[in-house]
Amino acid sequence: MSEKINRISIIGAGYMGRQIIEKSALYGYNINVFDVSSEGLEEFINDVKKKIDKKKIKIDITIYNSISEAVKNADLIIEAVPEKLELKREIFSQIDKSAPSHAILATNSSSIPISKLEEEVERKDKVMNIHFYNLFTMPLADIMRGTQTSDATFQKSKLWVESIEVIPLEVKKECYGFVLNRIWRAIKKDCLKIWAKGYADLETIDKAWPIFCQYFITNNFGPFKFMDRIGLDVIYDIEMSYFKNSGLGDDEPPDNLKEMVVRGELGVKTGKGFYNY
Ligand SMILES: NC(=O)c1ccc[n+]([C@@H]2O[C@H](COP(=O)([O-])OP(=O)(O)OC[C@H]3O[C@@H](n4cnc5c(N)ncnc54)[C@H](O)[C@@H]3O)[C@@H](O)[C@H]2O)c1
Repeated sequence: MSEKINRISIIGAGYMGRQIIEKSALYGYNINVFDVSSEGLEEFINDVKKKIDKKKIKIDITIYNSISEAVKNADLIIEAVPEKLELKREIFSQIDKSAPSHAILATNSSSIPISKLEEEVERKDKVMNIHFYNLFTMPLADIMRGTQTSDATFQKSKLWVESIEVIPLEVKKECYGFVLNRIWRAIKKDCLKIWAKGYADLETIDKAWPIFCQYFITNNFGPFKFMDRIGLDVIYDIEMSYFKNSGLGDDEPPDNLKEMVVRGELGVKTGKGFYNY
């Protein structure tokens, strides 16, 4: 596999595709673009060109009229067309036929694991989920492999994501919702339930949430550091209480947590929990 990514091809230049184009251009990558709709695309590309000229970045950005042309000399192709499985499968198949053999094929899909697209391509070792959030205001990207993605593809994709100053969130095993979307989904799901079942007004939730988040930001906490601070025995008992109340297997705390409690790894108060203190 060639070492360096120089040219990126974006298939689907809508809300997300345009962000990927702009950010990649600002970090010096050559860009090929294809979209079935030309609405506002030329104006957008001209704006990006002005921005990179100002920064004296010398790259090429070209809009093509077909997928085959747009991918023919690319090192990395990112598909960002609407979230429709059949459409993405068709696009992946077309890309695979025309892209150079070394090129990595990635989807920016929010929910479709790459394993659902990989059967459309020959190069099953060179496919990835690279799921961006907002590239400018929330520079994070879940990166997830398919069933046959090689380590080289994964590492190369990760390095590229880092090269445009986006933090890669590595998904170790294929899962629905990646990393951050899955966490957000859990929050969203219960907020909707609390509101729909009339337990609290949505304004109450919206008032509490920023204060809760501010506490995390101020203390530089993630959920695991926060649980360590509370105490893992306490966390375990709380989770068991939810489980006993609902009786749903999905609410049962993981055995790994129980084992930590049994070993006396209770967090900050015992010097060891998820982290060492
Ligand atoms: N909107 C978000 O916040 C967000 C965030 C992360 C990931 N995503 C994912 O990114 C992908 C794109 O989402 P979006 O919000 O940018 O959608 P969008 O509708 O803004 O853009 C999709 C673009 O694809 C083009 N397109 C449609 N059919 C095409 C085809 N056959 N060939 C080439 N181009 C085609 C459309 O003309 C449009 O410009 C989806 O898979 C979505 O799940 C979206």
